[in-house]
Amino acid sequence: MIATLDINVQKAERSKLLSTSLEEMPFGKYFTDHMLEADYEDGEWKNIEIKPYQPLLLDPSTAAIHYGQSIFEGLKAYKDDNGNVSIFRPYDNYKRFNVSAERMQMPSIPEEIFMEGMRRLVELDKNWIPHQEDHALYIRPFMFATDAVLGVKPSDKYKFMIILSPTGPYYNKPMRIYVEEKYVRAAPGGIGYAKAAGNYGASMHATAEAKKIGYDQVLWTDAFEHKYVQEIGTMNVFFIIGNAAFTPDLTSGTILSGVTRESAMTLLKEMGFDVIERQISVDDLIDAHRANMLYEVFGTGTAATISSIRELRYKDYVIEFDVEKWRTAPELKKRLDEIRSGKVADRFGWMYKV
Ligand code: COI
Repeated sequence: MIATLDINVQKAERSKLLSTSLEEMPFGKYFTDHMLEADYEDGEWKNIEIKPYQPLLLDPSTAAIHYGQSIFEGLKAYKDDNGNVSIFRPYDNYKRFNVSAERMQMPSIPEEIFMEGMRRLVELDKNWIPHQEDHALYIRPFMFATDAVLGVKPSDKYKFMIILSPTGPYYNKPMRIYVEEKYVRAAPGGIGYAKAAGNYGASMHATAEAKKIGYDQVLWTDAFEHKYVQEIGTMNVFFIIGNAAFTPDLTSGTILSGVTRESAMTLLKEMGFDVIERQISVDDLIDAHRANMLYEVFGTGTAATISSIRELRYKDYVIEFDVEKWRTAPELKKRLDEIRSGKVADRFGWMYKV
């Protein structure tokens, strides 16, 4: 099925790579020579094309712009020392993409378009994959409603696209985090578990307020009591307490089921931790801190990988960490990096060869 996918490929006449340095890339600022595009019309996906990266021409009434039927994914491709290219756990992102599509009343994308389309695009632009620490080719698949009509209803037409961005670390220093008690990221019954564009738009005001008082991001708490923790900024969150790694469970539907989260849970178990998914209250964290048992706090995400938190502030209670002394987050990151860069065997079958 996958081998026969009919993609019309139009190559760029000249590569922009000649005028771009892949050293010290910022996150998501530069894009490769090509992009993938497919259209959903009359109940089917058609016009699957790989073509030179270029702007889109959209009607001003395009539904996604007005009512937000727009979802995305984020994943990364790596090159090993022998030049072999692999993508990290793309099938998990594919499955999550369709979970998001269902929640936003959008059509699902067939596996061969997402997977084989991505593979062909990455293969074509593989020279753009940076080969240095903390760098990778960030892959951004996305879908949005394209009906040109202002009625509030699910669109009949959609566009699916994939773009690629050679990229460095998302956060390059340990972060200061403000525990959010006013704004809400997600409530049960809402879209918190979907990778919907609106979740990110809705987070920006709270983050901007936290930045005004010197914090980098917020730790989201539940919508009813602001008591239970959810995510940090755009990442899942882990707490090392004693010999256990705690992360909020996914049952309320308010938390994104992160691929890096799942990978971190697997590696933390391998490192000998009890990995516990459950509701975690801010009071639990303060109790653990007072008992000198809260050792490390870090975020996990595709863009961010593993990001250390050097300060957590809840009302007037401030928890500070000496991240230089940490062992777990750096070891976790090392194990993840070794698998992704092909330095150790892919013992969990995470790397998808391009
Ligand atoms: C990712 O980690 O891929 C994300 O979704 C974060 C992104 C919004 C920068």
